[in-house]
Amino acid sequence: MENPRTFHVKSFGCQMNVYDGERMAELLQAQGLSAAPAGSEADLVVLNTCHIREKAAEKVYSDIGRLRREDGTRPMIAVAGCVAQAEGAEISRRAPSVDIVVGPQAYHRLPELVARAREGGRALDTDMPVQSKFGVLPPRRRQGTSAFLTVQEGCDKFCTYCVVPYTRGAEVSRPWAAVVEEARALVDGGAREITLLGQNVNAWEGEDETGAVRGLDGLIRTLDALPGLERIRYTTSHPNDMREGLIRAHGEVGKLMPYLHLPVQSGSSRILKAMNRSHTAESYLDVLARVREVRPDIAISGDFIVGFPGETEADFEDTLKMVAAVNYAQAYSFKYSPRPGTPAADMEDQVPPDVMDERLQRLQALLAEQSLAFNRATIGKRTQVLIERSGRKPGQMLGKSPWLQSVHVETDAAIGSVIEVDIVSAGPNSLGGTIAAAPPTAVAA
Ligand code: SAH
Ligand code: SF4
Ligand code: F3S
Repeated sequence: MENPRTFHVKSFGCQMNVYDGERMAELLQAQGLSAAPAGSEADLVVLNTCHIREKAAEKVYSDIGRLRREDGTRPMIAVAGCVAQAEGAEISRRAPSVDIVVGPQAYHRLPELVARAREGGRALDTDMPVQSKFGVLPPRRRQGTSAFLTVQEGCDKFCTYCVVPYTRGAEVSRPWAAVVEEARALVDGGAREITLLGQNVNAWEGEDETGAVRGLDGLIRTLDALPGLERIRYTTSHPNDMREGLIRAHGEVGKLMPYLHLPVQSGSSRILKAMNRSHTAESYLDVLARVREVRPDIAISGDFIVGFPGETEADFEDTLKMVAAVNYAQAYSFKYSPRPGTPAADMEDQVPPDVMDERLQRLQALLAEQSLAFNRATIGKRTQVLIERSGRKPGQMLGKSPWLQSVHVETDAAIGSVIEVDIVSAGPNSLGGTIAAAPPTAVAA
C-alpha cells in the first residue's frame, strides 16, 4: 500500500471522541499528511467510533463498506474509538478491509500503525499503556472559538448498563500543569471558550503548583484568570462528584457559564439502584437545589434511559415526575440498549421494544416542552452572545448564549467576540436576537 498523503477523521459519539479526533488529526498533520475535506478524497480514513448503544456501534460496519475513493479504490481504513477498544480483532474478522484498529488510549501510536499497515499487515493496538498518550501528542493547533479540553478520562463507576468503564479504562486525571498549558495553547490559538471534558469530569483531582490537592473547581478558578479566555464550561458530571467547592464556584466564578449537564438516567430510586448509580432521586434533586441556590438562573441538562430492565410503568412515571420537578433546559433521552459484557444485558425483565418506544415518546414530549419554554423565557432579555461562525443568511452570525442556546443575530461582529444581544424570538433549537450595543466588546488577548 502507498504512503498515505491525505487523511480524513470522522468522529461519532461524545465530545471526548470529537476531542480525540482533533488530536489524531493534529498528530497526522505533524507527520506531514494533509487534511482532506471528505473521506472520498482521503488516502487514510479514520473512523472514530462509539460503542455506547447498539445502533452507534453497528453504524461503523455499514460505513466501512461504503468507503471508496473517487477513483473507486479503497483508502487505508483505521477504526479508532470505543468500538475499536470493545471489539478489537473481531472488527478485522467482520470487516477484512480494515487495516488498523486502535483504541482510545493508544492513538498516539497511529503513525507506527500506519507504517505497519503499509507493509501489508493488519495493525491492532488496544493497549491501555501506563504512559499516557497526552505526553506524546503534538501541541494543540487552532481549533476555533469554542474548544474542548480533556482533563479527565475513564470511569470507575460501572453503571450496570454502560460500556465506558471497559472502553475508556479506569479514571485518570491529567496533571494540573498539562491542563493549564493546553488551555493557554488553545487560547493563543483563538479559543474564547473552553469546555473541560471528562467521563466524570467533576471527579478531576490534581496538585497545583504549590503541591496542594485541588478539585475541578480549583482548575476552573485558575482558568478564570487566563487573559483572552471568555467562557468556561465542563461536562459530563456525575451527581456524586458535585462537591461543595464546585457548587460554590457556580456562584463565584465569572467565566463559568450557568449551565450544568448532570445526567440522572431515571427518577426511580429503585431503578437507580439496579443501574448501580449510587445516588437516589432525592440526592440528585438535593444537588440541583444547592446549585440553584448559588446560581438561580442556571440551565440544567440531563441524560435519561427509558426501559432499563425491570422498569415498570410506576418507575417510569417517577422519571416523568422528576423531569417535572427539575424543569430541564435541555436533555438527551435514550432507549435502553443491552450492551455485551455489561451486567444489565443479562438481567431478567427486559422491557419490550414497543413499551420502550411509547415511554421514550412521552418523555421526549415533556422534555421538548420544557426546553421550548426555557428558550421562550429568554425573549425580551438582553444577554451576551459569543460569536462562533457566520449564519446561513447573509449578514447573519451564529453564536451562543451563556445557557448554551444558539443565537442568530445580524451583526458584523467578528468571530470570537462577545456582544450584547436582545433576544426577540425563540424556537425549539435556537433564538433570534438583535444587536443591543455596538461596537462589540472586542476581546483583548
Ligand atoms: N459519563 C457520563 C455518560 C456517558 S454515556 C455519565 O455518567 O453521565 C452518555 C449517556 O448515554 C449516558 O448518560 C446514558 O444516558 C446513555 N447510555 C449509556 N449506556 C447506555 C445504554 N446501554 N443504553 C442506552 N443509553 C445508554
Ligand atoms: Fe457510564 Fe455510569 Fe461511568 Fe457514566 S458514570 S460513564 S454512565 S458507567
Ligand atoms: Fe461513545 Fe466511547 Fe464516548 S462509547 S459516548 S465514544 S466514551
